[in-house]
Amino acid sequence: MTKLNFTLGVALVILVTRLNSYSVIGSKMPRPSLWCDKARGLSDGQRKLCRKVPGLQTAIKKGIEKGLSECEREFMWNRWNCTLLGEKSFFQRAPDNTQEAAFTTALLSAALAYNVALACTEKDVTECSCEEVKRQPFREQSTWKWKGCSVNVGFGSSIAGRFMLSYRSNNTQSSIIDKHNVRVGLEVLKENRVVKCTMGKRGNAKACRLTLPPLHKISRLIKSKYNKATKVVAIKRRNKQSFFLRTNERHTYKSNFKRPMKSELVFLSHSPSYCYRQDKYRIPGTRGRKCRRNTLREDDCSLMCCGRGYNRNVLHKKRFCSCSNAAEDGQCQCKVCTDVVIENTCL
Ligand SMILES: *[C@@H]1O[C@H](CO)[C@@H](O)[C@H](O)[C@H]1NC(C)=O
Ligand SMILES: *[C@@H]1O[C@H](CO)[C@@H](O)[C@H](O)[C@H]1NC(C)=O
Repeated sequence: MTKLNFTLGVALVILVTRLNSYSVIGSKMPRPSLWCDKARGLSDGQRKLCRKVPGLQTAIKKGIEKGLSECEREFMWNRWNCTLLGEKSFFQRAPDNTQEAAFTTALLSAALAYNVALACTEKDVTECSCEEVKRQPFREQSTWKWKGCSVNVGFGSSIAGRFMLSYRSNNTQSSIIDKHNVRVGLEVLKENRVVKCTMGKRGNAKACRLTLPPLHKISRLIKSKYNKATKVVAIKRRNKQSFFLRTNERHTYKSNFKRPMKSELVFLSHSPSYCYRQDKYRIPGTRGRKCRRNTLREDDCSLMCCGRGYNRNVLHKKRFCSCSNAAEDGQCQCKVCTDVVIENTCL
């Protein structure tokens, strides 16, 4: 630890923080009013829906951005890291019909519904407001009632579903898969709403409303579904254009194959290797990715780098630390600490 003392104006600290956060947030997204028209890779149907309801555009944009950053965070230490594949569409993150695409579809659906629902409660969208909950969750005589602004997951989900499903033409194998996975994502959101109540005199609930958990809780649940996703086949209905899904597991006493469960993510194709650059799928490969040593998980250098080896760098990173708010004039005093950080990067 370097024993240097710095006196810094709080204003300066704030300025520095501001600058940093701008460089993090400062995406190249156009102004909200134009986003629907300009965002790369949206279908005509998606643009139309996005423009239709005032206020919806901002909520959709935010939903997608939040969903994508959740996706990147959840998979930061995996070979597939939710990175952009090519320049065509900003939400094309995984090869079609794979387990990773299933995860992305479910997560984006949930994140969209989440943000639209929030926008409704904040009166940012003219067509919706709070959800009126009527159903009583238990049969017992209740001393409480639904009251206050419950989050409108119903409206959020219907927008999210329409948005996600107007991406490609109906009645293709991929669209049947999408439909299933969108529902899985929306169901996770619905099932994980949180009941918040005000307390009555005897410490029991008086007035309750439905709220949302932090989005990362939803992402984590969808990720655990990703780990258990089911391989399916899409079978064409006789004399019809549409498909239905079957797993490769048979019923115990019948010879036919089982349907996938409504709660599980499904995929049609096995994933390509994410190890190497593959232009066919626009996969960048794991060269340059950070990894950890001897964890025996997916972030382990031998797995992440696919046996190619890695560079080991020892970095000395400086930062302000032990700041004390000593003086009256709004100034604070900090030391400079040096952290030793070891960074491994795949060859
Ligand atoms: C698919 O069908 C739904 C109605 O079931 C419709 O809302 C949607 O726009 C259609 N998608 C496309 C791309 O045509
Ligand atoms: C994901 O990995 C690619 C290289 O494979 C890298 O360029 C990209 O920055 C990574 N994305 C994130 C969010 O870390």
